[in-house]
Amino acid sequence: MISENQIKKLINSAIEARENAYAPYSKFKVGASLLTENGKVFHGCNVENSSYGGTICAERTAACSAVANGEQNFEAMAIVFDKTELALPCGICRQFLYEFNPELIILSANLDGNYEIKKLSGLLPEGFKLDT
Ligand code: THU
Repeated sequence: MISENQIKKLINSAIEARENAYAPYSKFKVGASLLTENGKVFHGCNVENSSYGGTICAERTAACSAVANGEQNFEAMAIVFDKTELALPCGICRQFLYEFNPELIILSANLDGNYEIKKLSGLLPEGFKLDT
C-alpha cells in the first residue's frame, strides 16, 4: 500500500509537471505523476496540438514516459487540474491505464494538495482487456 509520504511526493510531482503543460488552445493545464512498483516516478503534462485530435493528456504522457523507460508495472498515479477541482482522468486515459493495471490507485488531487484515493477499476468498471 502507498504511504502518506509517497502520496504527498506524487502529488507535488504532478503539480510541478503541470507547469510544463503545453495548452495554448484550452489554457487548461493538467499534471500527472506515476509511481511504478520499482519505486520510480514518471511525470507528464498535457501536450496540445493545433490539429486538436492530436492532443495528448497528462496521464498518457506520464504512462508513455514510464513505458519508454522500461517500466510497465504501474502502482499509483496522481493527477491535478487546478486549485479547487479534484482531477479525474478522461475516458480515453482510463482505458489506456486499465491495460497496465486495472487496480491502479488514482490520487485525484488539486493544487492545494487536497486529494481523494480512488481505484481505476472503480472509475472504469468492466473495462476492456485483451487476454494475451
Ligand atoms: N486533459 C488531460 O490532460 N487529462 C484529462 O484527464 C482531461 C483532459 C487535457 C486535454 C486538453 O489538453 C485539456 O486537458 C482540455 O481538455
